[in-house]
Amino acid sequence: MSHTIVIFGASGDLTTRKLIPALYRLWVKRRLPADTKVLGVSRTEFSHDAWRKSLSESTAKFAGKDFDEQEWQSFAKSVFYMQGDIGKSEDFQRLSEVLDEIEQGGNGTRVFYLSTTPRLYATAVANLGAAGLADESNGPRRIVIEKPFGYDAATARQLNDDLHQVFAENQVYRIDHYLGKETVQNLFVLRFANSIFEPIWNRQYVDHVQITVAEELAVGRRGDYYDTSGILRDMFQNHLLQLMMITAMEAPARMSADLIRDEKAKVLQSVRPITAEMVKQDTIRGQYEGYRQEKGVATDSQTATFAALKLHIDNWRWSNVPFYLRSGKALSCRTTQIVIQFREPPQSLFSDQSSQSPGANRLVIQVQPAEGIQLHFHTKVPDAGMNLRMTDLDFSFQREFSFALPDAYQRLLLDVLNGDASLFARSDEVELSWDIIDPVIEAWKNQAEPNLDIYPPALWGPAESMQWMAEQGREWFDVCPLIT
Ligand code: BG6
Repeated sequence: MSHTIVIFGASGDLTTRKLIPALYRLWVKRRLPADTKVLGVSRTEFSHDAWRKSLSESTAKFAGKDFDEQEWQSFAKSVFYMQGDIGKSEDFQRLSEVLDEIEQGGNGTRVFYLSTTPRLYATAVANLGAAGLADESNGPRRIVIEKPFGYDAATARQLNDDLHQVFAENQVYRIDHYLGKETVQNLFVLRFANSIFEPIWNRQYVDHVQITVAEELAVGRRGDYYDTSGILRDMFQNHLLQLMMITAMEAPARMSADLIRDEKAKVLQSVRPITAEMVKQDTIRGQYEGYRQEKGVATDSQTATFAALKLHIDNWRWSNVPFYLRSGKALSCRTTQIVIQFREPPQSLFSDQSSQSPGANRLVIQVQPAEGIQLHFHTKVPDAGMNLRMTDLDFSFQREFSFALPDAYQRLLLDVLNGDASLFARSDEVELSWDIIDPVIEAWKNQAEPNLDIYPPALWGPAESMQWMAEQGREWFDVCPLIT
């Protein structure tokens, strides 16, 4: 049975930087289903060979030492190109014919990957429908949608409606590449394949949770896009809330796509709605110094490049346990980490003798780049009276498994081909996420508080963010991971 991936936006950055290198690596590992074909579609004029040649150069660059000319040549035989315009319905008729031609009949699986500007999603979907390309009588038909999924709750709902006019929900795969990261998938394993964490994974033992996605890079060449998006749309509505859902969810009855997503959606349904008044106390926003001079950015831009939110999950497990979500550009280092900060012991037996404050245990899940998990606990410093020191049990993926972790797109593309939607966002998840983020975006537009703090690059964001935590008797875990 054939498998075909049609990539709309074939000449775009995502295709050359991520999708083709991921497919090539899967090919080298012999993981692609037999008879997988890739068909690129975009307005640029290319012959099959010209596209293959251009991809060979870009893949050699992005796959680095994994690139092997001979393997590439054998993979490239399955790569095809069609010049086409998403706005023209006749091009979709032609697409249908081209697909029949390259697949040479059979009831194969077809995946339509929208890697175009989001503006074209609705048109692409409607034209696929009109050309009969969503019809599953001759095999599964799936559609992959890249982020951003909508610009706010209303546009996300509209896009879901547009999709559902043509595709059933089980044909739709909304990508959040964070879900394809190995360490994010390992969160399920950490929580639900071990019995020692679950009993303490709740309000009785956990003081609060911190989820940080820090980036060292600034907006670079993406100023145009970023200035209309900002950190909340770019990172919170999708990646940070996804990390929060998996950290906070209940165990699903089985590891099946809908049961997992039911539990994730319940987390979002339990998030206390953020009122304009709460936005003043529970959010921090910042912009790095120099942002307004970036290309494509308005010189008086009010767009936040840093945000910290305090969310409350009002359910039995998490009542009164704040979840602090934080992300920013131009920070100290690149690190994504989830910190489960446990409560202090009920009695501090050693505080008299020890010069240090005991502090509390924490579990640090390093999502990237130093993938691993550390459990921090106190130890007596030998031969020094009763002095304590925070020490840790340290698990590192790199030490344990000596191979490089695969890029998220490899896993996600394979899952789409195999029809497993567990690591993709369902329509309700996306809408609920926007419902959480929208009021903050709205309030930031309309009210002066919180102030937009300008922060110097290469630190952990505005000083107000540290102060805000200190006022709550808490502290950010600001540690750049050690990359060995
Ligand atoms: C993207 C955002 O979704 O994620 C970017 O648009 C951000 O602004 C990127 O840099 C971060 O992804 P990663 O995998 O490098 O952490």
